[in-house]
Amino acid sequence: MTKRTVFSGIQPTGSLHIGNYLGALRNWVDLQNDYDTIYCVVDMHATTVPYDPQELHQSRVLTAKLLMAVGVDPSRSLLYFQSQVPQHAELSWILGSMTPLGALNRMTQYKEKAERAGQMLGLYSYPVLMAADIMVHKAHAVPVGDDQTQHLELTRDLAERFNNRFGYTFPVPDQITPKRGARIMSLQDPTAKMSKSDDDPRGAVLLLDSADTIVKKFKSAVTDSEREVRYDREKKAGISNLLDIPSIHTSKPVADLVDEYVDAGYGDFKVAVAEAVVEGLAPIRNEYNALDDAEVSRIMARGALDARTRAEQEMADVRTKVGLGA
Ligand code: AMP
Ligand code: TRP
Repeated sequence: MTKRTVFSGIQPTGSLHIGNYLGALRNWVDLQNDYDTIYCVVDMHATTVPYDPQELHQSRVLTAKLLMAVGVDPSRSLLYFQSQVPQHAELSWILGSMTPLGALNRMTQYKEKAERAGQMLGLYSYPVLMAADIMVHKAHAVPVGDDQTQHLELTRDLAERFNNRFGYTFPVPDQITPKRGARIMSLQDPTAKMSKSDDDPRGAVLLLDSADTIVKKFKSAVTDSEREVRYDREKKAGISNLLDIPSIHTSKPVADLVDEYVDAGYGDFKVAVAEAVVEGLAPIRNEYNALDDAEVSRIMARGALDARTRAEQEMADVRTKVGLGA
């Protein structure tokens, strides 16, 4: 039986953080065992907010390297830069004519980003390009964190609309979200998700942060005025986030961690969490340092070639169905 296809994407904006890793990338790696996996550095999405071209060019390779360092294996997964496969943009155009503005107006991520970046068409139609990314490979499942649920719903809706209008073409893709870690919170504001664009750099722990920096960031984590280490997402969001992070890293149940640290005091608890994270990230950093930029670029070029071939097959079928065939 042919394997089901998994697709996911990540933006090449600066460094990746433990929220990306725990919410999405760890699943990317695990899914390689059972699925036909396709992973994409979505550089065209990164142009929907103000950016510096040189920085973007560098971040692309850096992001590709980080993906390989966490365990995305180019011999098992198709890995490439979105802009090198123009079929994504082509399908996005076709889907745009089937996307009601009402659906885009509801997107909370657009509202948040438009406040900072301005109301631009590219940012507005970002979710349509994301749907095209997934559909151009006829993917069945998409591993992402919680914050992408609305975008995935639009993708499912567009797949159904297309199938109804032009005949069955696209699977309606499932979202794959981890039971724990789907939403890692900022260390500086435990009511907001950990994010690359956090105003306070101490809010996000980056995969390549030094041990020293990681300890400092955890020590400065915002918690509450009690003294008891206890899991309560509502009343103790900060401490609960700190309990989630190592329990995911070490697969230790939260209850065991609570037993261990219930009377430790927040200071010692934070250091213990930091140490678990330092240990968990060490192999990633070693892998990263061992990778060669030129080799990574060659791998990405080869990936784009294969991805173009695959996407072109799907697009030939789509063009025929919508009346734009040869
Ligand atoms: P982005 O950094 O927005 O390109 O996100 C890349 C992937 O990481 C997506 O699948 C997101 O859903 C996921 N992600 C981003 N931030 C978090 C977070 N704080 N917790 C869990 N997953 C996250
Ligand atoms: N919007 C996603 C994010 O910000 C990135 C993304 C773009 C993506 N295209 C995708 C994720 C396709 C999954 C599938 O994280």
